Order: sequence, then structure tokens, then C-alpha cells
Amino acid sequence: MKPRHFLSLFDLTPAELQQVLRRAGELKALHQRSESYTPFSQKVLGMLFEKASTRTRISFEAGMAQLGGSAIFLSPRDTQLGRGEPIEDTARVLSRMVDLVMIRTFEHSKLERFAEYSTVPVINGLTDYNHPCQLLADLQTVIEHCGELRGRTVAWIGDGNNMCNSYLSAAIQGDFLVRIAVPPGYEPDAGLLQQAAGRAVLLRDPLAAAQDADVVTTDVWSSMGKEEEQGRRARDFAGYEVNAAVMAQAKADAIFLHCLPAHRGEEVSAEVIDGPQSRVWDQAENRLHTQKALMEFLLLNGQAVAS
Ligand code: CP
Ligand code: NVA
Repeated sequence: MKPRHFLSLFDLTPAELQQVLRRAGELKALHQRSESYTPFSQKVLGMLFEKASTRTRISFEAGMAQLGGSAIFLSPRDTQLGRGEPIEDTARVLSRMVDLVMIRTFEHSKLERFAEYSTVPVINGLTDYNHPCQLLADLQTVIEHCGELRGRTVAWIGDGNNMCNSYLSAAIQGDFLVRIAVPPGYEPDAGLLQQAAGRAVLLRDPLAAAQDADVVTTDVWSSMGKEEEQGRRARDFAGYEVNAAVMAQAKADAIFLHCLPAHRGEEVSAEVIDGPQSRVWDQAENRLHTQKALMEFLLLNGQAVAS
């Protein structure tokens, strides 16, 4: 039997996605009432980070502790991975010792290789291709504000990166529209764009993308691993800042989201991210609640599928 993994939003059915988001709301309420809920006694999460992180590490580590389990932080610098031990061997060894693994890495194929050899559920903590855990938090934040996902319009402005790809998957699984404004050469994954036909529109103009949107969102122009392209990207993305003029195109009660970390004065103006329509702090907090719901689903509710 193969374990259930969470490598993309497509690893949950639309109904399971709604179930996890509903449960995240319940776990948030429990947390706010300071009620103890510790079903994970003796459970251990292994967290392998090949890139930097603030939110992902803290939300998984705190979430696991709150559920009564524990988490181990691992990086290539202080494991044998950094000295060339194959990812397949690491997967086989790690999954004999821990109950759940989270990985943040560069190539998506590396995550998939790990998952193939892991005997415990593997969670994608971000790859160059996607960032599905962030989308769980984003979707919870949209639901808190808009009531439901279906029929909503999200404007994605900036780079067609791992977060943009994840919004395409989310639009399919959550039945909403994503309007994407990116400069030429920075389009999201072509396959996902095709798959999202009818739920995704590719544009160049940020103002047109934001028109009557319920949610306006963006991300850094230079993702982790692209730092050396920063100069060229700053020039190519000129005119793609989410500022008051962009927000003015959206619905009067639209919200602004950003997965963070943010660069004020680049992809978003300070007046927007620090302004009244911004929900970025709720969004960051929701990483905790949604990932607790996800871990509970994978460890306690997830149905094992035949190999
Ligand atoms: N949004 C997000 O994943 O943040 P970190 O890189 O800090 O984990
Ligand atoms: N697109 C960004 C997201 C960071 C959470 C990156 O990959 O660096």
C-alpha cells in the first residue's frame, strides 16, 4: 500500500480539499479558545529544507507540537544529503523513523522521487513548480472573507511562478476564476494553463486583471534560486506593482493577499500591503491551521491507496 502524499492540490479531491479547509476552521477556533487537542502523541514529522523559510518551518513545527507530536528540522548542510547521499536512500531511511515528511526543495522531480520511495506521507513545502500548502492558507483566508470559493475572481499580478501555478490548480479544484497578468516570458506552466482552460485568463495588463476581482494577489519578482536575475527582472516587471491604482479596479471590498516575504516598493506598494484591504497576516497565520488539518487528514483520515 502506498501512502497518501500532498505534492500538489490535485492530490486531494475537490471534496477532500473542502473537508481540509472546513477542518482548518475548526482547528483555528479550538486554538483561539486555547483548547488542547493532541491526537499526535509519539508522532514525528521530518522537515527537510533545501531553501530558506520562516513561515513554513514555524507553522509545521508549532502545529506538530500543538497536536502533541514533534518535528525535526533537517537541511543538506547537516545531513548526508549535502555530501551526496541519494534522495531515494534518504527517503527509505527517513520514512522508517518518522511518521510524516515535509520537503522544501528546488526541482519538483526531486520531491516526486522522494515520495516514490517514502513509505510515509510526504508534504510539499514548496518547489520551483508549486507551493500547495500556501494555497491551503490562501483559500482559508478567501473563505473567511468571501464565504466560499466558487464563482470568485482572483487577480494574479507579477511572475508566473510556483505560486501562480498553484493558483491555477486551486482555480480548478475550487471552481473559481484566476486572471493572470504577467510580462512576456514570465508565463506560468503551459500544461496547467491549458488544464485550467475556462477558469484561467492570461493577460498582460494588471489593471485589466484586477477588474472587479474579489482577491488581488502577487508574489516576489525573484523567487528563491533566481536571485542572480534580480536586475533584469526588476526591469521586466516595471509596471506590475500592486498599488492603489490596481486595487481601485477591484471590487470595493476586495482583499489583498501575498504569501510573504514581500518587497514593498517592488511587487506591492506599502500602502496596499499595510492598508485596510490587506489580509496578509491572517493569511500567514492560516498556514498553521490549514497544515494542522492537512497533517490530521494524511495521518488519521487519509485512505491508503493500493500500489
Ligand atoms: N510563504 C512562505 O512559504 O514563507 P516562508 O518562505 O517563510 O516559509
Ligand atoms: N515564489 C516564492 C515564494 C516564497 C514563499 C519563492 O519561491 O521564493
